[in-house]
Amino acid sequence: MLIEGLNGLVTGAAGGIGRAAAVAFAREGGNVVIADLPAQRERLEGTAEIITDTGGKVRIEYIDVTSLDDQRRTVAAVVEEFGRLDFAFNNAGVEQQTPFLDITEEAFDWVMGINTKGVFLGMKAQLEVMIAQGSGAIVNMASAAGIRGLPGYAGYAASKHAVVGLTRSAAVEYGDSGVRINAVAPAAIDSPLLAELSAESRDELVARQAIKRLGDPAEAAEAAVWLASSRASFVTGTTLAVDAGSSAF
Ligand SMILES: NC(=O)c1ccc[n+]([C@@H]2O[C@H](COP(=O)([O-])OP(=O)(O)OC[C@H]3O[C@@H](n4cnc5c(N)ncnc54)[C@H](O)[C@@H]3O)[C@@H](O)[C@H]2O)c1
Repeated sequence: MLIEGLNGLVTGAAGGIGRAAAVAFAREGGNVVIADLPAQRERLEGTAEIITDTGGKVRIEYIDVTSLDDQRRTVAAVVEEFGRLDFAFNNAGVEQQTPFLDITEEAFDWVMGINTKGVFLGMKAQLEVMIAQGSGAIVNMASAAGIRGLPGYAGYAASKHAVVGLTRSAAVEYGDSGVRINAVAPAAIDSPLLAELSAESRDELVARQAIKRLGDPAEAAEAAVWLASSRASFVTGTTLAVDAGSSAF
């Protein structure tokens, strides 16, 4: 098992890629704190049920990733429940499909606040503990739109490019600390977030891929689990494209 005996957290774990990742971390032997907004309580409990039904250890925490206090409390919950923080998957995020000139200042702040600042604050809380431990692995959620431009999604793409910048810079800064920091960059994954788009918009995203279908949340989750595992012990600062070949064009 890839994560045997390791303890960590997944944000945005109420559904989609976060739920698939939490289930995969547990299946691979990990103990997981799953976190999402309080409004997602029922769906978060659904994720916990899947894990406990298969014999995994899980604890629920409520978090708004834009709050440093919430981030620190979630990290503390992992340490309190399981003893140490070995991995963290900063997955929570929102999408924003808006033509560039229609993005208001408020809308830009909103997408940057959750997708970028949320990851920054998570890394801050997690690094405080991992650096003191001398070990740990952080995986951040970027996107195919964090590697290439995506017309109609400039705010979202900016927020995900910034995640790549945070990942690379912190990975280099803390390269010798025993902590690895990487990102995953999925293309179109069949999740609740993508369901907010029209069928036409989803088709346009798939048309940018070499593999012409939506991905399953589990297909993105597997990359995060591998990056968090000791199998990726020589990998830091990378953004792993799980993008059906869209960056190969
Ligand atoms: N679905 C895709 O095609 C795709 C592609 C690339 C990247 N992503 C990224 O993957 C991540 C997961 O998205 P998903 O596709 O599984 O969709 P999703 O909507 O199912 O998951 C996002 C989760 O984040 C949570 N969340 C939102 N704001 C939050 C906040 N302030 N605090 C805490 N939690 C919050 C939501 O409640 C939700 O459960 C996102 O960061 C998204 O940008 C998705």
